[in-house]
Amino acid sequence: MNDTILVVGGTGLMGGAVIERLLQATDASLVIPTRDARSERASKVLALSEGRVRMVEGDLSDDAHLDEVMSMADAVFCNTNFFAANSPVAEYTLGRRILDSAHTHGMKRFVYSSLDDALALTQGAIAVPHYDGKAAVAAYINLMRSEEMMQRVEEGWFSNNVSILTTAPYFENLTSGLAPSPATLSDAREGLRFTLPFGEGAYPMISLQDIGWFTAYMFAHWQSWGSRDLAVVGDRLTGRGIAESFEKQTGIPSEYQDLPLEVIIDSIPHVGHDLAAMSALFQARDITIQDRDLNHLRSLHPGLMNFQQWMVTTGWRGAPVSP
Ligand SMILES: NC(=O)c1ccc[n+]([C@@H]2O[C@H](COP(=O)([O-])OP(=O)(O)OC[C@H]3O[C@@H](n4cnc5c(N)ncnc54)[C@H](OP(=O)(O)O)[C@@H]3O)[C@@H](O)[C@H]2O)c1
Repeated sequence: MNDTILVVGGTGLMGGAVIERLLQATDASLVIPTRDARSERASKVLALSEGRVRMVEGDLSDDAHLDEVMSMADAVFCNTNFFAANSPVAEYTLGRRILDSAHTHGMKRFVYSSLDDALALTQGAIAVPHYDGKAAVAAYINLMRSEEMMQRVEEGWFSNNVSILTTAPYFENLTSGLAPSPATLSDAREGLRFTLPFGEGAYPMISLQDIGWFTAYMFAHWQSWGSRDLAVVGDRLTGRGIAESFEKQTGIPSEYQDLPLEVIIDSIPHVGHDLAAMSALFQARDITIQDRDLNHLRSLHPGLMNFQQWMVTTGWRGAPVSP
């Protein structure tokens, strides 16, 4: 594939992993919209790029900028950032504008990066705003597919040119916001304590590298994996499981301590209640088992990493890593 792919969120963690893989595995040129083409993150992406990446400065909420970057591309990967506005309605509105612009520009392929529909999966019980805005865009894509089917539109754009990639929390969060702290453990050993809001729930996680892999795979093998969309994950981990697996791999004594959701709600300004709701979702529903097909994912991508393989690959030994 030697198209030009617009990577929305390309200066971010997910977009960066997608760019790295697209550069490795395809001949595509890439267009990256950014608010600041001279930021550290933008410079890092340009350094990888072998002249195949163009940064275009602007704000995607500006119609002229959106139109400019769309007119430079044939295909789109789109990961919007909920935390830009902390509003599911704002994320939905931006997602719709990006999709509708891509439709108008006749993009050949559009991969929309989504998250699980927390409200639908819990019969309305648990809203997770930073999931729900993306899930609403995914629902809009499905609504348009249904309309295309009803109207018997041949080659409908939403049906044939759009695919939804539903992702999961990154293992890399354990190296930043969820990093363990040095502590004297409850058995008096010196080691690392993972203080996490997981309760007895199993967290679904995946490496950024594998999100990049699946995205490049989707572009290269368009809708050939048995359905239109793909929901990915690399492993499911309880808090205790993370600490045990970490100690087994690194030899560093470690333990899990549950962090009550109220602490997150009270201690993280503006979004603590949203992040706590995500934890509540994973305590209520084991999405790896119920909403993913790991065997199928491994058949598509035999190198898909579980947590232990990710630790081997990255050599991570518990230290915080700056992105
Ligand atoms: N953390 C996880 O485990 C995880 C897993 C799956 C999905 N997600 C979702 O991924 C999204 C974040 O992407 P990421 O993880 O790649 O984050 P990130 O590293 O913080 O990147 C943020 C991206 O958003 C762009 N952006 C555009 N307008 C922005 C604004 N007004 N404020 C801040 N950033 C803005 C940034 O571009 P410029 O700064 O260059 O303009 C950058 O490319 C969130 O919606 C999150 O829910 C996260």
